[in-house]
Amino acid sequence: MKPRLIVSRQIPPAVADRIRAEFDCPFPEGQDMDADTVIRMLTETRADALMLTSHLPFRAETIARIPDHVRIAATCSVGTDHIDIAAAKARGLPMSNTPDVLTECTADLTFMLILNACRRATEYAAIMRDGWRHGYGLGEMMGLRAWGKTLGILGLGRIGQAVAQRARGFGMTVLYSGPRRLPVDQEHGATYFADFRAMLPHCDILSLHAPGGAATAGIMNAETFALLPKGAVFVNAARGGLVDEDALIAALQSGHLFAAGLDVFRNEPEYDLRFAALPNVFLTPHMGSGTVETRNAMGFRTLDNIAAVLSGKPPLDPLWT
Ligand code: GLV
Ligand code: GLV
Repeated sequence: MKPRLIVSRQIPPAVADRIRAEFDCPFPEGQDMDADTVIRMLTETRADALMLTSHLPFRAETIARIPDHVRIAATCSVGTDHIDIAAAKARGLPMSNTPDVLTECTADLTFMLILNACRRATEYAAIMRDGWRHGYGLGEMMGLRAWGKTLGILGLGRIGQAVAQRARGFGMTVLYSGPRRLPVDQEHGATYFADFRAMLPHCDILSLHAPGGAATAGIMNAETFALLPKGAVFVNAARGGLVDEDALIAALQSGHLFAAGLDVFRNEPEYDLRFAALPNVFLTPHMGSGTVETRNAMGFRTLDNIAAVLSGKPPLDPLWT
């Protein structure tokens, strides 16, 4: 008999094909489920495993209601700020995530945000869609050069390092801050600032790559945006909770920031529509991992984690030990 699986959100076709082959699953393509539906489905099907995503808040109340026959809850995301890991550990519920496989695509998207913000992509694209009604003088519609700029990175983890590696190809000077200095910084030619605030005045471009959660909540606020030089560019492909969005909007409206590139927001998908009214922001709908290759790899890694636990081994990417 195949193990029974519940999938709490729509997933790529190639991943669904593998689920059909290896699992007994009522919706192998996944279905959008809230926490109550997940609990009901797990219970009704006597499921062995749950595949979830960052759209499902996995808080202590929900974890307490997971039936005992569920042997692993595997999130198809690198981020874990939707999960109460302490509650899962207290409950003894094995959990896993999908690190590494989305690093390069998220770094690619970060550069897409940087380049599009610096080079006024939102405005240029709107002009072309509108029929390009008149030509521009050499002094009009000028963007900022990205090549050769100083890039500040908050969080030189896997994704931060992949961004630093790309920055070298753009002739950038790389600075970073985070909880500790990392030996890998030499390989990336990145200069460490123990004090995040002391780094900000040096950044032409600032990119966030820190995890979300209480420790970093609102780290970009009116005070820290003011520490960036006038005309700086801000990008965020990490988590919306890192940013005080009122302060960001004010800095974009006043021209203190030249532009921003944003993939993540405090409220997703109901993000603050004041961003959409600003010409100097380039917006994407939380798509750092959004390529066929990476979404398949995330799905397969999630299934590998589930298979490991169902065969009596620990998860490959455990959230707690
Ligand atoms: C995406 O945000 C992820 O955490 O995988
Ligand atoms: C993601 O892989 C990170 O921790 O930077």
